[in-house]
Amino acid sequence: MQTIISPSLLAADFTNLKDDIEMVNKSEADWFHLDIMDGVFVPNISYGLPVVEQINKIAKKPLDVHLMIIDPDRYVEAFQKAGADYLTVHYEACTHLHRTVQNIKQHGMKAGVSLNPHTPVNVLEDIISDLDLVLLMSVNPGFGGQSFIENTYSKVEKISKLIKEKNASTLIEIDGGVNLETGKKLIEAGADALVAGSFVFGAQKPYETISKLKNL
Ligand code: DX5
Ligand code: ZN
Repeated sequence: MQTIISPSLLAADFTNLKDDIEMVNKSEADWFHLDIMDGVFVPNISYGLPVVEQINKIAKKPLDVHLMIIDPDRYVEAFQKAGADYLTVHYEACTHLHRTVQNIKQHGMKAGVSLNPHTPVNVLEDIISDLDLVLLMSVNPGFGGQSFIENTYSKVEKISKLIKEKNASTLIEIDGGVNLETGKKLIEAGADALVAGSFVFGAQKPYETISKLKNL
């Protein structure tokens, strides 16, 4: 399977957002990664539902929505209405994770769970079969442009093993500090999908950059 590439619009030019969305539409990228931050779960505030709705009007690829918010159950229906295809919540932000995952699926979306860098992958042992996606954070969530945490490679190997043991079809996606070097090693370790923000939108030639990530 070719790697799924999900450019993070957090690093896009918000004064020219339409151009950046159209670039992703025309590129070899597969999804749009949308980072929603509440200023409580993470020390930053990004953008919210009205912006997601607008993005959805012109985005021609699935919306991969990453909720960095506390108690995300409150917003499952709202993000479905706004156009989310994949809805990913943080393990650390959900008291009743199983219920949240079922709620996402009942709303017709693919369900993802994200783990912070310090959270061991084995906490997902009893829910992995229910998940469409696991999003491993390779930086502490909250900001783009941070450096990659090397321990992520072994987490990818461990979660990949767990998925195989359980005969699950969960996709492994990695978020933070992805570039050609880290991306290659992540794929070798077993990653299926890569999020890239600053590496794509900070590039001189974003189409080529996406293509290179896609064909690592
Ligand atoms: C960080 C976000 C990431 C971010 C990645 O909290 O979840 O999606 O946009 O940015 P880069 O690729 O620049 O590390
Ligand atoms: Zn993200």
